[in-house]
Amino acid sequence: MVKIAASLLAADFSCLYEEVKKVEKEVDSLHFDIMDGHFVPNITFGPQVVASLREKVNLPFEIHLMVENPQEWIIPFARAGGDLITIHLETSHHLDRLITLIKKEGKKAGIALNPATSLCGLEYILSGLDLVLAMTVNPGFGAQDFLFSVLPKIKSLRQMAKERGVPFEIEVDGGINQATARQVIEAGSSTLVVGTAVFGASDPKEAILRLKNS
Ligand code: DX5
Ligand code: ZN
Repeated sequence: MVKIAASLLAADFSCLYEEVKKVEKEVDSLHFDIMDGHFVPNITFGPQVVASLREKVNLPFEIHLMVENPQEWIIPFARAGGDLITIHLETSHHLDRLITLIKKEGKKAGIALNPATSLCGLEYILSGLDLVLAMTVNPGFGAQDFLFSVLPKIKSLRQMAKERGVPFEIEVDGGINQATARQVIEAGSSTLVVGTAVFGASDPKEAILRLKNS
């Protein structure tokens, strides 16, 4: 069954813990969109917010670093309680070094790709990855429309995993809802990041269960 990572970007920031409690029994992980106002035109939250929720929430925490200098933020978010740290391929010339740093912190390592970014940059780091995140919107905001142009990339990722025999998770992020979930699952995604379709739903629990059964 597909896994659901709830993106807090779509939650009510004035009561984050209450929002998490609404979904914590149904989702598989929490997805923290970390934005620095440089790599993407938005700013969200820092390590302290992650640490505060870490004290109260048992779910795995995914840290999605949409920041210009990921090397500055891997350790702070690892020590704040992140379990999986995903950096954007577009934000470093030293991906192998940063993946090693994430692993040294005892965390899982992911690489995120913007919609226009090809897979070739993954060529020599695939074996060290726990997850590849295919952005299905241009990063920075929730509630955007799904980019169908990314579907072939998801299929190629699944092909890559099979041919290389590397068991990395394929995660998609952005515009995932009842209408798009089935297509990304069939293309090869095993984890769906969902913000608006969960926290914007009248019944978040029911929305999650419907997505899981897509
Ligand atoms: C966008 C974020 C996504 C976003 C998904 O930059 O990375 O996680 O919050 O939100 P929805 O599901 O609302 O498109
Ligand atoms: Zn995200």
